[in-house]
Amino acid sequence: MTQTKKSIHGEWSSRFAFILAATGSAVGLGNIWKFPYIAGENGGGAFVIVYLLCILLIGLPIMIAESLIGRRGRQSPINTMSDLADEANADPRWHYVGWLGVIAGFLILSYYSVIAGWGLSYVFKAFFGGFSGADGTTIKDTFSGLMNSPPQQIFWHSIFMLATMLVVSKGVAGGLEKAVRFLMPGLFTILMLLVAYAMTTGAYEQGINFLFNPDFSKITGQAVLTAMGHAFFTLSLGMGAIMVYGSYLPNSISITRTSILIAGADTAVALLAGIAIFPIVFANNLEIAAGPGLIFQTLPIAFGNMTGGWLFGILFFVLLVFAALSSSISLIEPAVAWLVENKAVDRKKACVWAGLATWVIGLGTVFSFNVWSDFKIFDRTIFDLLDYLTANLLLPIGGFCVAVFAGWIMKPEDSEHELRSSRPIHYQIWWFLVRYVSPAAVFLVFLNVVGVL
Ligand code: PFF
Ligand code: NA
Repeated sequence: MTQTKKSIHGEWSSRFAFILAATGSAVGLGNIWKFPYIAGENGGGAFVIVYLLCILLIGLPIMIAESLIGRRGRQSPINTMSDLADEANADPRWHYVGWLGVIAGFLILSYYSVIAGWGLSYVFKAFFGGFSGADGTTIKDTFSGLMNSPPQQIFWHSIFMLATMLVVSKGVAGGLEKAVRFLMPGLFTILMLLVAYAMTTGAYEQGINFLFNPDFSKITGQAVLTAMGHAFFTLSLGMGAIMVYGSYLPNSISITRTSILIAGADTAVALLAGIAIFPIVFANNLEIAAGPGLIFQTLPIAFGNMTGGWLFGILFFVLLVFAALSSSISLIEPAVAWLVENKAVDRKKACVWAGLATWVIGLGTVFSFNVWSDFKIFDRTIFDLLDYLTANLLLPIGGFCVAVFAGWIMKPEDSEHELRSSRPIHYQIWWFLVRYVSPAAVFLVFLNVVGVL
């Protein structure tokens, strides 16, 4: 069965449009906000190497798998999975993988929106000259001010959720495609400027050393899980986001090539962010394991002290928010596409309901940085718990299922057909990785974390 379908939601106008949208989904807070702080918390170099290995051996093959499953099914992940399971005469329960993704997307967006809200508030802080000439202490106080204010955080979280709902309600062609067109070049440019500033701090080498000089004694099972979970998170894998975008992909396009491009761009942005941030940390004697506040306590120092920093500071946080927006629309898209297909609601209504639910859950994250900071479940605040549950558990589980499905359940001639415009050797490498390496790696990391291994 190798005939192909078209999606009812429309199709990308070109290969470029798919690359932009998938890159838009991938590149976001994960690269600029999360990667540096988890690298800081997990000792730097060795963690970064494990992370890069995870991108290559687990992330990339699963990104290819998700794209081709999406393109073959041409619907929301839930319906795509049940159709393709049907096509392969497999257990219909495979569609629960789609459900897992909808739930993971909801939960991620609930805290993603809060952090994007921090970014939004920093656009205004930058605009009103809040960073000008500032040192580490002032910048830290600014950040604490925001952390200790639920009303401020809720306000910005609300604005960001509204923006997400607005873009998503406009549909594939109108909403998603436009938002990502100008982002990447802008982001790259400002990151390069920040790297240039980092070189003037006097601690550039120390920062680079921290980021790239591996000390494997710092690696624990939990660190490996965090690195692997982040590979899924940063590439938007394991929850159907890339599957949805793949479902709009024209049949003529090489999935392997586009996936390599997207993963490459994503990795480049993360590494650039790290290279910009750690020299600033060392030069100002800041705390390397500062956690989720790391970029908000480092980059403003750069903007406050570099030439043109007022403008670049505003631009940077604007771009960060747009990068977050092009990711958040893909976090909610699986849910919206499903509501539209199965519940016969129109796109607008689907957006309102999905958005409202996410907004409410997001309040838990807001409060975990202030009034509920002592409220812990399994020794974690609500934010920590949501982050751990989604990035370290749900996404790897979803990705594991995708790999097993593409490698073992789908008929080889079907996956080969979807990858027909890729070079045969690429197909063979992918086939080996997705069948053996990726699922085994995820499984072993899990075994290690639960103490079996
Ligand atoms: N990849 C995004 C980031 O790095 O910020 C986050 C993300 C978006 C995760 C979409 C998952 C997803 F489906
Ligand atoms: Na990313």
